[in-house]
Amino acid sequence: MIDIKGNKVVLIGTGAVGSSYAFSMLNQGVCDELVLIDLNEKKSMGDVMDLNHGVLYAPATTKVRFGHYTDCTDATLVVICAGENQKPGETRLQLVEKNVLISKKIVRQVMDSGFDGIFLIATNPVDILTYATWKFSGLPKERVIGSGTILDTARFRYLLGDYFGVSPTSVHASIIGEHGDTEVAVWSSANISGIPLKDYAARDHTENLEDKMIEIAVQVRDAAYKIIEAKGSTYYGIAMGLTRISRAILQNQDVILTVSALLDGEFGHKDVYIGVPAVVNRQGVREVVEIPLSVREKQLFDISVNALKKVQESFSI
Ligand code: 2OP
Repeated sequence: MIDIKGNKVVLIGTGAVGSSYAFSMLNQGVCDELVLIDLNEKKSMGDVMDLNHGVLYAPATTKVRFGHYTDCTDATLVVICAGENQKPGETRLQLVEKNVLISKKIVRQVMDSGFDGIFLIATNPVDILTYATWKFSGLPKERVIGSGTILDTARFRYLLGDYFGVSPTSVHASIIGEHGDTEVAVWSSANISGIPLKDYAARDHTENLEDKMIEIAVQVRDAAYKIIEAKGSTYYGIAMGLTRISRAILQNQDVILTVSALLDGEFGHKDVYIGVPAVVNRQGVREVVEIPLSVREKQLFDISVNALKKVQESFSI
């Protein structure tokens, strides 16, 4: 068991995702100290001022300040949101070359500080970037986590909740696989408070559930493309997802979230970071949870693993 004390979070990259994450962390009072780092120092200094002016109305007195890589020395959590983001029509995987290089530089500087905590990665393609961070850092796999399909699962549960007229918190369902085009909706175990979807739908939904399921899975998979087309980038949803993971870590919650974790034999695969349900606590990923998959879901998951491995192998990470 690693002994990581304190609740200091260092955020690297204060673009739209990073600054939304900072805002969300402040609003939820998740950490004692939040340090912002960005190449654009002026921008992060502005963010620090702006955020501090809201502290009075936050649930806790989070200390928000501008910092440098040396601040990572005693951080519990380093969150990386830096990197290029998708342009309209671009896939997440097309960002890989640029962002692996950026990640290498960042991780080296974080590790040079003597950092010995947990990395949380949000930069896309997130599964590949999390794998790269694990390799570059030399930290145990448990302490390098990617946001994975945390957001896709939230989109899925929101859309199902909306359809069935219940809160997303009453929907139990996951998206696993690549955070991207090959992701997999796990329909076989999806339920509304323990009631299988088919039975719940039989109560008062007359339209064909199969058609609705296809429509929802496509909407989840393509959500980012739609948002990017509409407003240039996505940030609020992922920021809330990152905050949820941060809370699970800092409050030692042992909660199961769909994050990008390294597979070491689970689901029949090794040496790949991919979105899977995992128990998250102050040690990072305590364990990957092998939820049952139908034959078709397992085939689709294998395709997703192979798509990521292909990208991984094309790089000397
Ligand atoms: C998202 O899914 C672009 O990965 C980002 O919103």
